This record gives sequence, C-alpha cells and structure tokens, in this order.
Amino acid sequence: MYKYLITGGAGLIGSNLLRELIKKKNTEIYVVDNLWRGKIENFKDKDKFVFDVDNYFFNLDLRNYDNCIKITQNIDCVIHLADVVAGINYVFNNEFTLFQSNLSINSNMLKAAIKNKVSKYLYVGTACSYPIEKQASINKIPLIEEEAYPANPETSYGWSKLIGEYELGLAEKNNQIEASILRLHNVYGPRCELSYEKSQVIPALCRKLILNEEFIVWGSGKQRRSFVYIDDITRAIMLSLEKGMGEGVIQIGPDKSETISDIAKKLLEISGKDIDIKFDLSKPEGDFDRTANYSKAKKIIGWKPMVDIDTGLSNTYNWAVKNLLSQKN
Ligand SMILES: NC(=O)c1ccc[n+]([C@@H]2O[C@H](COP(=O)([O-])OP(=O)(O)OC[C@H]3O[C@@H](n4cnc5c(N)ncnc54)[C@H](O)[C@@H]3O)[C@@H](O)[C@H]2O)c1
Repeated sequence: MYKYLITGGAGLIGSNLLRELIKKKNTEIYVVDNLWRGKIENFKDKDKFVFDVDNYFFNLDLRNYDNCIKITQNIDCVIHLADVVAGINYVFNNEFTLFQSNLSINSNMLKAAIKNKVSKYLYVGTACSYPIEKQASINKIPLIEEEAYPANPETSYGWSKLIGEYELGLAEKNNQIEASILRLHNVYGPRCELSYEKSQVIPALCRKLILNEEFIVWGSGKQRRSFVYIDDITRAIMLSLEKGMGEGVIQIGPDKSETISDIAKKLLEISGKDIDIKFDLSKPEGDFDRTANYSKAKKIIGWKPMVDIDTGLSNTYNWAVKNLLSQKN
C-alpha cells in the first residue's frame, strides 16, 4: 500500500484533492488539519463521509514538531497544503502571527518528513510571493514568470510561503527529499471558506449576494488576478506528483486575468439580483495586477487550464447557495 498524507486536507484544495486521490488503487490516504479554516463537512458528499474519518483523519496542529513526527510515520508521499491562508483583511491584520505560524508549520513538516524518510514531498507556494515590482501594470509586464528573486512580496503571507519554497529547495539540493513545488495563482471553487473573517474575494462576493449583505467590492475593483478553478488545481497536483518532481517551481494559473469588478459583475448576473455594486476605496485591494504564465507547467507536467471563469463562477455560486442556506435552516 502506497501511503499519502494530505496536510490541510479539510480545506478547499485538500478536500477536493482527497476525492481524486481516493480513486487511485492500492493507496491509503491520511489527512491532517487543525480545522482552523478547514471543516469536517468538507469530507462529506450528500451527508456521507467520502473516507474513513475515524481512522484516517487527524486533528493536529502542525506548528508542533511532535505532531509532525507522529503524522509522517510510514508515509510515502506528503502533499503539504496546511498553512494559514485567508482574505486580504485577515492577512493585513495578522501579519506577524500568520508569518510565525506558516514558518513553523512548513519547517516542522519538512524536518519531520525528512526524519521519517518520506520519499516524495509536494509543496504549494503562492503568486503572492512575487515581488511587488512584478505585480505591475498589464502593459508593462504582461505575464509573470517563475523567477521570484530578488524577493519583495507585499505581505508576510507571501514571504512565509516563499521561505517555505526556499527551505524545500535547499533540502532537495542537499538530497534530503524529492520535491515538487507548485506556485498557485488565486484558487476558487466549491468547499471554499465563506465566512466574513477568513474568506477570499470570490467566496466573499458570493456570500454578500446570497445573504443580501451590501454588495461592496474592496478597493477600486480594477485590480486583476488570474483565477484558477479548483478542478484545474487538483489536476495540476496529480500531474506534478507524476512528472513534476525535481523540476523546481512550476506556476499554475491561466494566462488571462480578470478584474475584481468584472468578477463582481459576473456573479451579480449569475445571482439574477437587481442591485448596484459599490466600491469601498478605504479597504485594501492588494497587488495591482497579476497574470499567470503557465508555459513551464505545460512543458513539464502537461497542464493547462480547462475550466473557464464563467463555468467556475457559476459552480462556486451554486455550491455557496446550498452551503449558506443549509446553515441558515
Ligand atoms: N486559495 C488560494 O487562492 C491559494 C493560492 C495559492 C496558494 N495556496 C496555498 O494552498 C494551500 C491550501 O490552501 P486552501 O486554499 O486549500 O486553503 P484552506 O485554508 O482551505 O486550507 C489550508 C488548511 O490548513 C489548515 N491549517 C492551518 N493552520 C494549520 C495548523 N497549524 N495545523 C494544521 N492545519 C492547519 C486549515 O485549517 C485549512 O484547512 C495553502 O498552503 C495556501 O497557501 C492557496
């Protein structure tokens, strides 16, 4: 039996990836999460667990090294997704604690995986790790390539994730572990976090529409992002486990970006509501522009985005309706 461990497996990416991995034969899948943002509900389809939660799910805090040692015993492959990730408001208000948490989660997990002789390790970085200078106007730098140095991310979140990449790169260079590093652009889709405190932009806009909150976009709405749908992400991870080991950082995201204002308009149309979009210029809006370049992903792991933004948004909105309305009842 080949044994996988998904860290942060109760979250958006982890819980969707779990559904792909359980299709593989001769495998055992272990999941660890401290449920900071992940949820047990994410393991269910139509009220039934998709895997044996009692025996294969562990509620542990990975900032603690002993927990990392415990959970990596006899594991062949770690897919390391656990980290503190949230919307821009949370990130700007909690820069120090977030930085410390992510540094300890990433470093302890890697150290424990090496100690327990895990043979494969997949890490996910973020487009937030690119230097501010590369997040420039679309006319100046149309596409971001993999180079992220000299480092100058805008937030401590971007720094913490870059240091995670860097540390894993060092371990690989010193032949401690075989690694794959995917650097993801903005991920969205069913099983995303919808709460006011911790949600990212697409789920936050869905919630505002569904719960009839004021439909406010933070900032000018002109900021651009390459949004990538969850199914494209789980496919990238599966491909990279096969073909992405030892290939350095591979960026994952479409070579087309959307303004937040356009995303809000599309969601409004999907909702069928007749309301105005308001822009709150007093709120942070983050990096101005970020458009992915997936040429390395295409060449090395044969990945390209398959789900267009309209389909992705409508799937996400419809899932959010069911999720939020079931919580109300
Ligand atoms: N969502 C995005 O847009 C995006 C973009 C780029 C990279 N990423 C990266 O992908 C990974 C997964 O992100 P996601 O979108 O699924 O977010 P998520 O918050 O849904 O998943 C992360 C999981 O880690 C868990 N976690 C946090 N602290 C922990 C701790 N101390 N111990 C154990 N578990 C802990 C959370 O409870 C959560 O379930 C993260 O590493 C994130 O940085 C996400």
